[in-house]
Amino acid sequence: MGIHYERISDDNISCVKDLCNELMTYQKSKAHIHPEWFDNMSFESRFIPSYKGAKANFLMVAKDGDEIVGYTYSNISNKTTYSGGFATLKAVDFFDFNSVKGHEVGCLSQFYIKDSYRQRGIGTVLFNESMNWLNSFEGIKDLFIFVSNGNNSALKFYEEKSFKISHEILEGFITVLRNS
Ligand SMILES: CC(C)(COP(=O)(O)OP(=O)(O)OC[C@H]1O[C@@H](n2cnc3c(N)ncnc32)[C@H](O)[C@@H]1OP(=O)(O)O)[C@@H](O)C(=O)NCCC(=O)NCCS
Repeated sequence: MGIHYERISDDNISCVKDLCNELMTYQKSKAHIHPEWFDNMSFESRFIPSYKGAKANFLMVAKDGDEIVGYTYSNISNKTTYSGGFATLKAVDFFDFNSVKGHEVGCLSQFYIKDSYRQRGIGTVLFNESMNWLNSFEGIKDLFIFVSNGNNSALKFYEEKSFKISHEILEGFITVLRNS
């Protein structure tokens, strides 16, 4: 059966719980700067608060039959959401708020395709769906993606899709990419 894509509604977000936790494990396995910061990151500690705190959410999955084999999660949030503690008690602004025109920003927040389903174009379909959704908000021009250290293949993927590396934060733990 071919891959098909479904947008997930608010009452069904737990369907990506296992893949979200796999994403945290994957990112830890790649990281060389503070890999232990991932130990407290999970669907409950990362996905749920992000989803509840956002102004709008877009969750889409790729399915092979009934099995979910990948997902993308994007949101629209107030830019001040990206200030303050992260993983540790360190206070950090993820980007220069003055460089953002409006009050809100878009973010491709989580993205994961199961290992055996990568390199087949599934990620590109989900990425394009996320971008179509993010770009549908007329007043929002600034889009961000935050990539944890060591995940060079993800960096390359986003650069191929025209995102640009902006800067690093948290001692290099995260690389910030933006659309312009
Ligand atoms: C990053 C990720 C989401 C990309 O998903 P994907 O399904 O592998 O993406 P695609 O298949 O669309 O594209 C990947 C590469 O395969 C190539 N490709 C696309 N279709 C292909 C096909 N049919 N055959 C062979 N290669 C193909 C693309 O050109 C692309 O190359 P590029 O990275 O040089 O641009 C996926 O690799 C992943 O889940 N990685 C682990 C988790 C992760 O890093 N998440 C991001 C956190 S920020």
